[in-house]
Amino acid sequence: MLSLSLALHVLSAVLWVGGMLFAHQALRPAAGLLQEPERLKLWSAVFGHFFPWVKAAIVLLFLTGFGLIRAYGGFGQVGWPVHLMLLIALTMTVIFGVIYARPYKALKAAVAAEDWPAGSEALGVIRRLVGINLLLGLMTVAVASGGRFLAV
Ligand code: HEM
Repeated sequence: MLSLSLALHVLSAVLWVGGMLFAHQALRPAAGLLQEPERLKLWSAVFGHFFPWVKAAIVLLFLTGFGLIRAYGGFGQVGWPVHLMLLIALTMTVIFGVIYARPYKALKAAVAAEDWPAGSEALGVIRRLVGINLLLGLMTVAVASGGRFLAV
């Protein structure tokens, strides 16, 4: 059970953080080749496909994360990397919630109304917030995997 939880946990982390890296560092520069309306329609569709995976990954990360903590004997028995992981994961989840509820909604509405300046502004906000979440996610993976070997 422990190995299944840890496997699902790490798979969810790979899915969320890897997806953000691909979107931010590979798709974003490549999408710059497109005209504005096509670029905004593409991003709206990309998020429509990616965000359900992110939601599933978040649910799995918390379920398996708390499951692992319980299996290890509770919060008092796990080290600082796990406490930090939980704190950063909560921050990332709030940021994702903000993206979903505000600029993503605005992007979809702008694309439907063919209001390209509004769409471009919403996409800019998403880009900045995903950039922050990407950095936090990479940091979490580093802390989660390497932190326990630090003598503190
Ligand atoms: C973005 C969110 C998260 C990421 C990227 C992440 C990443 C990881 C990774 C890569 C590991 C594997 C470490 C290893 O075995 O080498 C791990 C383990 C673990 N994570 Fe997370 N995690 C996240 C969220 C959470 C949350 C929300 C919790 C608690 C509710 C949690 C609790 C744990 C626990 C208890 C372990 C096992 C640590 C150990 O075996 O020493 N994680 N996490």
